[in-house]
Amino acid sequence: MKSTATLICFLQLLILLLRQSLASSLFTIANSSSTFPDEALPTKSGYLPVNPSTDSAIFYTFYEAQDPVLPLSQTPLLIWLQGGPGCSSMIGNFFELGPYRVVDTQGENIALERNLGSWNRIFGLIFLDNPIGVGFSIAATPEEIPRDQHSVAKHLFAAITGFIGLDLDFKNRPLYITGESYAGKYVPAIGYYILKQNMRLPEAEQVNLKGVAIGNGLIDPLTQVKIHAVNAYFSGLINERQKGELEEALWKAVEFVKMGNWSEATNARSEALDLLQNMTGLATLYDFTRKVPYKTSLVTKFLQSVEVKKKIDAKESIVFDECSDVVGEALAEDVMKSVKYMVELLLKMSKVLLYEGHFDLRLGVVSTEAWIKTMKWEGIGRFLMAERKFWKVNGELAGYVQKWGSLSHALVLGAGHLVPADQALNSQAMIEDWVLDRGGRLCF
Ligand SMILES: *[C@@H]1O[C@H](CO)[C@@H](O)[C@H](O)[C@H]1NC(C)=O
Ligand SMILES: *[C@@H]1O[C@H](CO)[C@@H](O)[C@H](O)[C@H]1NC(C)=O
Ligand SMILES: *[C@@H]1O[C@H](CO)[C@@H](O)[C@H](O)[C@H]1NC(C)=O
Repeated sequence: MKSTATLICFLQLLILLLRQSLASSLFTIANSSSTFPDEALPTKSGYLPVNPSTDSAIFYTFYEAQDPVLPLSQTPLLIWLQGGPGCSSMIGNFFELGPYRVVDTQGENIALERNLGSWNRIFGLIFLDNPIGVGFSIAATPEEIPRDQHSVAKHLFAAITGFIGLDLDFKNRPLYITGESYAGKYVPAIGYYILKQNMRLPEAEQVNLKGVAIGNGLIDPLTQVKIHAVNAYFSGLINERQKGELEEALWKAVEFVKMGNWSEATNARSEALDLLQNMTGLATLYDFTRKVPYKTSLVTKFLQSVEVKKKIDAKESIVFDECSDVVGEALAEDVMKSVKYMVELLLKMSKVLLYEGHFDLRLGVVSTEAWIKTMKWEGIGRFLMAERKFWKVNGELAGYVQKWGSLSHALVLGAGHLVPADQALNSQAMIEDWVLDRGGRLCF
């Protein structure tokens, strides 16, 4: 039994290896931001209304699967949500997991480069600028911008059902919601909302949600915020006295949560992270190995071009910003609130992948471990006892994975906060194996 599984696992790796060596190597297809070649264009893009009585709408780009292994009508659809709160999923699209990414070339030019680790190799991939007011999305009035996860989910549900309505074939395709960082809030929120809607809707109107995946996510902030000091200390980045000081700063956030003073709790968390930043002097807390921060500003520069906006059907009058302060402020009282109970329902009724880049000091592996073990889920005991396995891609160690039932937890080596940006091919192998349940617990 075990040797058969190993053989299947080996064959799958061999096929993956062959596919990758057959694919053409990385090539630069565009020179300046004023050229956007047709092969890099989304399959569909534009606006999905979120409210029938206003003009508020969520901007999307959709990339159909490049090389599907199933008939299109059965090919999974993945939705990607960026974090923040208030950051655009176009960062995910053009810097992390989309089929073409912006790269810095010599001089002033920005080029698009094919990404062989794209998540749309065998799945359809949708990027949503969420919530309204973010990226190219439209908030008709500032008051309409969500201030809590229920409102976020309501808008996302309208956008997602709107998207599914664009094509008869979308309806039955298995749907997975994915995202990173603050999307650790959004992903469970829309997943939970869909499950609740499905319970009351006739079958024909239900959404075919199969699972959710969250990278370096903020999910149960109170548990996660407490861990920063020990995490930095045992990483060797601060000494014991600094650990004490940081704990004191973190404790303020905890106290404000206990008082129900949510906005002050958010401020206290930010201040504690600033303190950690000041103590360590790192280029970025998102990856303690980096000498310079992630250069996501390239995407902003690219998307501010009128020609690019025209090509992707984005409203030209919108000046693209990587993150919206207005949206960030609207969600200030939401930051420290937990969505753990939503993950618990998703574990019962679908499947959940939590993954983290190893080098992230803000929302890393230890921070996720801390809240996972507090979950009220019948499988938690067995999950915690499950073996943590090596996870390999093309014969090389890619990370570790622990799995029981509907919960998988993966660590990605050689990556910081933006996992697909740092480990494109490994992140692609991870998401494909998880969605398709490939290789069971031996491969992934
Ligand atoms: C990009 O365009 C500039 C002028 O716009 C040109 O000087 C440069 O050689 C081009 N680079 C490539 C790689 O084609
Ligand atoms: C939260 O705490 C701040 C600072 O102590 C205080 O000014 C504010 O009134 C408090 N807000 C609430 C809602 O209790
Ligand atoms: C971090 O350092 C900056 C610059 O020196 C300073 O303005 C800020 O107050 C410091 N923040 C904390 C929380 O120590």
